[in-house]
Amino acid sequence: MTELVNKRVTMNRALTEYMLAQAEPPISSQQWLIDATAALGASAEMQIPHEQAVLLSFLADIANAVTIVEVGTFTGYSTLALALGLKAGGVVHTYDISSEWSGIASKAWADAGVADRIKRYTGPALDGLAALPAGQFVDMAFIDADKAGYVDYWNELVPRIRSGGLILADNVLYSGEVVSAAPSHNALAIVEFNAHVRADDRVESVLLPISDGLTIARKK
Ligand SMILES: C[S@@+](CC[C@H](N)C(=O)[O-])C[C@H]1O[C@@H](n2cnc3c(N)ncnc32)[C@H](O)[C@@H]1O
Repeated sequence: MTELVNKRVTMNRALTEYMLAQAEPPISSQQWLIDATAALGASAEMQIPHEQAVLLSFLADIANAVTIVEVGTFTGYSTLALALGLKAGGVVHTYDISSEWSGIASKAWADAGVADRIKRYTGPALDGLAALPAGQFVDMAFIDADKAGYVDYWNELVPRIRSGGLILADNVLYSGEVVSAAPSHNALAIVEFNAHVRADDRVESVLLPISDGLTIARKK
């Protein structure tokens, strides 16, 4: 246990600010989207933080992603990050059960010049994923919606990911509740999801302690 503590930095506010200062700063359309989402109030906490957006753009670029599938659009910050990392001619297909925030998302995507790279679908994501064609045509997927649905989203997505493609899942530490003695319903769903990923020999994966925890899995 001593080794665990010594080799890993426990983040505090000063370290978090320092870490953030090392990331590429938000472009103007991203900053507008951060501000517009913050103005919504409490629901703004659903937006991924900027350093995670930088990582998503980076991974999409490294994966040479042409087809990306996202589960959980909200106001479109992660969608924008994924679209910025796409290869020319690529598309992000993004699913959300609600259209409440689509106006904000559309404005940010248009301002960033990536609106033509994004296809947005409204409705339960599981129905949308199940309707996707069979075959390994997805280069990258990002799961960030209802926690109880994660295992089902994973099961729909893995067969559609190409060999070497990536599946990412957000909130996999669930504010630390994954190790709680009395986890909430959502935290239990995440514990089940993490075990599901760990046992899936179609992928290799790593859980990163960035933001609320991000799993990165690569299809073998
Ligand atoms: C955490 S937010 C996504 C945040 C977004 N990735 C971002 O960075 O701004 C989760 C989203 O999942 C959506 N959602 C919840 N249940 C869903 C379902 N069954 N199908 C599709 N979307 C769902 C919610 O409406 C919400 O917008």
